[in-house]
Amino acid sequence: MNLVLFGPPGCGKGTQAKRIVAERGWVQLSTGDMLRAAKSSGSELGQRVAGIMDRGELVSDEIVIALIEERLPEAEAAGGAIFDGFPRTVAQAEALDRLLESRGTKVDVVIRLTVDEDELVQRVVRRAEQENRPDDTPEVIRTRLAVYNNQTAPLIPYYEAKGIVREVNGMGTMDEVAAAISRVLDKG
Ligand code: AP5
Repeated sequence: MNLVLFGPPGCGKGTQAKRIVAERGWVQLSTGDMLRAAKSSGSELGQRVAGIMDRGELVSDEIVIALIEERLPEAEAAGGAIFDGFPRTVAQAEALDRLLESRGTKVDVVIRLTVDEDELVQRVVRRAEQENRPDDTPEVIRTRLAVYNNQTAPLIPYYEAKGIVREVNGMGTMDEVAAAISRVLDKG
């Protein structure tokens, strides 16, 4: 199973991906987590992406595609990949299609989490108080939302054309959203 969890910053992709991992044993492939790990390790890659991430802009397609490619065998062995925060551009989506096709698979379903913009900002700002993520300030979240609208939202028609988008209301409690996602996944 190749599942793309799709939606704007703060919609709950990471939260729900972890729940699916716990329930189904699939592998969460979060490019945001991978890049934050590189950043905190102080590696050359981490130093290269730090400023870009802190400003809320996108790192290059080449970097994130390589990170994903490296982890695909692990997800395949587990029977499922949850793509979280990837793809974020049409070029990334096309690259993912090519990578999966070369391994004899494809993106099976795209779950689009919808959340009102005011709620997104509130969630992210609340998280800033707890976790200190440098890109969770009110100014940077505005940039991240603009980047989402300009560069990532065009993926919706890309995947709709393949007939694999399932919309889930992300405004409920975490349990309600998890239950709605499970219903989509169990329907096949
Ligand atoms: P990334 O880490 O992917 O950030 P994001 O997409 O902005 O997503 P978030 O982690 O903010 O939100 P989420 O949807 O996962 O929500 P979460 O579950 O955390 O990317 C960070 C940066 O890395 C990017 O800006 C870019 O620079 C770079 N990057 C990453 N991937 C890239 C790519 N593919 N290409 C290029 N650059 C890339 O929830 C948010 C908060 O809300 C949490 O506190 C949570 O507890 C809470 N919450 C969740 N669900 C609910 C609920 N139902 N009710 C109330 N609160 C909730």
